[in-house]
Amino acid sequence: MQVTDTLTARRRFLQPFSGQALDPPPVWLMRQAGRYLPEYRETRSEAGGFLDLCYTPRLAAEVTLQPIRRYGFDAAILFSDILVVPDALGQGVRFAEGEGPVLEPIRDVAALKRLDLSRTQEKFALVWETVARLRQDLPCETALIGFCGAPWTVATYVVEGHGSSDQGEARRWAYRDPAGFQRLIDILCEASIGYLEGQVAAGADVLQLFDSWSGSLADDQFDAWVIRPTARIVSTIKARHPHVPIIGFPRGSASLLADYLARTGVDGVSCDTSCPLPVMKRTAETGRVVQGNLDPLLLVAGGDALDARVDAIRAAMSGQRFIFNLGHGIVPETPPAHVARLVERVRRKL
Ligand code: CP3
Repeated sequence: MQVTDTLTARRRFLQPFSGQALDPPPVWLMRQAGRYLPEYRETRSEAGGFLDLCYTPRLAAEVTLQPIRRYGFDAAILFSDILVVPDALGQGVRFAEGEGPVLEPIRDVAALKRLDLSRTQEKFALVWETVARLRQDLPCETALIGFCGAPWTVATYVVEGHGSSDQGEARRWAYRDPAGFQRLIDILCEASIGYLEGQVAAGADVLQLFDSWSGSLADDQFDAWVIRPTARIVSTIKARHPHVPIIGFPRGSASLLADYLARTGVDGVSCDTSCPLPVMKRTAETGRVVQGNLDPLLLVAGGDALDARVDAIRAAMSGQRFIFNLGHGIVPETPPAHVARLVERVRRKL
C-alpha cells in the first residue's frame, strides 16, 4: 500500500495494528539501547549496577532515548529488564559483571513463600515513573513500547537462578509437580498484569511479552506454560485496555505459531531468526501484525550481505502488516554504524 507523508506525522508504528500495511515498514530493534552504544556505557557507569539503572527513572529514560536520538526509530522500548518482576517480588536479583543475572533459586512450592505479591509496587513504581517521563520526552511520532517477560521465561530464571541452555530445572519441576509449578506461574501472571497495567496507565502505547525460552517446550508443555498464561495476561489487559496492542515473542516456536496466535489473543507476533519468511508472510495474511526477523549477527557482519537480507525480508513482507526488527536482541559487538545503515536501508524506496 502506498503511504503518504501525512501518515508519518503521528505514531506511524501503530498503523499496522489498525489494519494498515506500510511501505517502508516501521522499524525498531530489540535491545536497541545497550552496550553497543558508547553513550549507554557512559550512563551505565554513572548508575553503578544494572538494576540501579533500571530503577533510576532519569537514567533509564535517558538510555531509552539514546537510540531514538541516533537513529529515529519508530518506537522506543522502555529500558528495564524482565527480571525486575522476580526482583520486585522479593527474590533478590543481581547482575554479576560478565556473568549475567544471578538469583537465589526457587525450586519447590515451599520456597514460593519468598515471593510476595504485596510488595511489588515499591519497585514497579520506579519503572512506571520512567514510562511517564518518556511519554513526555519522546517526540510525538515515536511510539512507546512497554514490556515484561512472559511467565514461562521468567520462571526459568526464578527456578534455575541464572540463564541456562536447556531450562532443565524449570522443565523438571513442571513435570514432577505441575500443580506446584502452576502456583509459580500464577504468581508471575498476577505480578505481570499489575506491572503492565501500570505501564499503560503511565503512557505505554504497545506492550510486548518476551518468551525467549518457549522453544524448549514439548507441545503439551507449551500449551500449559506458554499459551495459557499468555492468554490470561492478554485477556485481563484487553478487558481493561482494549485499544493497547500486545505483541508476543515466543522465540524458537515457529512450528507452534498458528496455535499461539489463535489461542493467546495477541495482536502481533515477533518472529525469531529461524522463522522462515514464507511462514511470516502466511502469518501476516491471517490478519496479525508480524515483526522480525533479521539475524542480529548479520547486523554485526554488515556490508552487502546485510543490505541483501534487509531487502529480501522487505520484499517477502511487502503489502503485509509488518514491522521490521531483528530476530533477537542486538549483541554488544554490533558496530553502531551498521545500525544506521540498516535503518537507512529499511526506509529506502524499493
Ligand atoms: O530492548 C531494549 O532495549 C529494552 C531493554 C531490555 C533489556 N533486557 C536490557 C538489558 C529488554 C526488553 C530486555 C529483555 C530481557 N532480559 C530478556 C528477553 C529478551 C531476550 O533477550 O531474550 C531476557 C531473557 C533478559 C534477561 C537478561 N537481562 C539477561 C540474560 C541479561 C544478561 C545478558 C547480557 O546481555 O548481558 C540481561 C542484562 C541486560 N538487559 C542488559 C541490557 C541492556 C545488559 C546489561 C548491562 O548493561 O550490563
